[in-house]
Amino acid sequence: MNMQTGAKASGAAALASALTEVRTSLSGSIERNRQAGEALALEVVQTVDFDCPVYIETADGCRMTDVDGNTYVDLTMGFGAHVLGLNAPEIRKEIQAQATRGWHFGIHNTRQTELADLVRLARPGNEQVAFCNSGTEATMYAFRLARAITGKQKIGVFDGSYHGAHDYALAKVDPKSAPTKPGTVLDGAGIPPWVRTEATVALPYAHDACFDLIRRHSDELALVCVQPVQNNNPSVTQRDWLGELIEVCRQNDVLCLFDEVVTGFRLAYGGAQELFDLEPDFTVYGKALGGGLPVGAIAGPARILRHFKSASTEKGVFFGGTFNGNPLAMAAGVGALQTLHARRDDIYPSLVAKSDRLVDAINAFASNQHMDFQAINAGSLICFHFQKEAISTYRDLQHKGSFAERLFYVALLKRGVIVPAIHLAFLSDAHSEEDVTFLIESVKGALLDVRASNLI
Ligand SMILES: Cc1ncc(COP(=O)(O)O)c(C=O)c1O
Repeated sequence: MNMQTGAKASGAAALASALTEVRTSLSGSIERNRQAGEALALEVVQTVDFDCPVYIETADGCRMTDVDGNTYVDLTMGFGAHVLGLNAPEIRKEIQAQATRGWHFGIHNTRQTELADLVRLARPGNEQVAFCNSGTEATMYAFRLARAITGKQKIGVFDGSYHGAHDYALAKVDPKSAPTKPGTVLDGAGIPPWVRTEATVALPYAHDACFDLIRRHSDELALVCVQPVQNNNPSVTQRDWLGELIEVCRQNDVLCLFDEVVTGFRLAYGGAQELFDLEPDFTVYGKALGGGLPVGAIAGPARILRHFKSASTEKGVFFGGTFNGNPLAMAAGVGALQTLHARRDDIYPSLVAKSDRLVDAINAFASNQHMDFQAINAGSLICFHFQKEAISTYRDLQHKGSFAERLFYVALLKRGVIVPAIHLAFLSDAHSEEDVTFLIESVKGALLDVRASNLI
């Protein structure tokens, strides 16, 4: 056996033994997973690579309890939707009150205007808002809007980005291509091949080469869509590059969209663009906007949003959806945003302080122990990576899916901490300083477990 095969075998053995141990307290979850495997084509968390599925029964604050009665401190926070924590009373109150009045009408309801007014408070450019049901729908409509306004067809997307699950968002930048000459690949089967060649321009994130590419493609580029903070390497260091990006787009008649589905109402009430003091042409939101119920939105100046077709206009961009703006989801959003806006001076600095403390303590430990591991964060967006090398863009990421990484998440689960594995982890207002201390100690313990198996 060569060294690499030996390391792989011992990694697999360490993971198998940790899974055997943790599964003894998860018999209810294991049974439900078996049933789900028969009934469901795929489960909702199919994008999350859990070695050990856990089925949650109840959730409150920063804690979740599974069907076997185990309680965990949660870092999933509904994939970022819960800034106030799980089952937040301010949101629950609005949902309950609305549920007694009815939860879906189809016909006009005043809750949409209430939530729109709260979105308008987020940024001066948010003159108007259109609601849909997810971040995916929001980017889909935003791409269509940009094509209609500019009369051009292509959308510029950056390497390492995620903009949702519709066809046009799934032409991705090939991570193997050179940043100066980025290529595209389709993420999965069933996407028309022309989406890659006719509808997309690949751009390198945080790299000045993107500016020339935008200039070169300006005749066909309708829109550049950018995450001001990326999911897998969250950092708040790209202000100058983003500012130049907006400028280059303006000079070349290309619209610039900020995808703030993760960052909106989480990094700051006005999202990353408030933090950076930048103004893109328009913005998409999701996640935190709905306080845990499905809401997406496109927001921006009337000069952009007026291109959506209304019932009285024949021309324009089609926008539709049975559940768009439904009063129950709007009520949850109102509960969330009202509270976040009223408490913005306290919630956002506190989220940053708690998250920085968590990440700094973990990094100090890993560095003292000479472990190839680092935590990175932009406020309450947190990622763990099993590498020492600095990460400034997605292209710097290595070693994803290693046995060390997989064992780490199982070891955390054993200690009562749920992290959505490869996905971003999130802190919320409901995580107390004591919870943060518990998380720090849990991560240290899990890292020591990985070391005990000689994987780090
Ligand atoms: C930056 C970004 N944009 C868009 C989306 C799609 O949002 P949704 O999952 O609500 O469709 C996501 C989802 O994680 C996201 O992270």
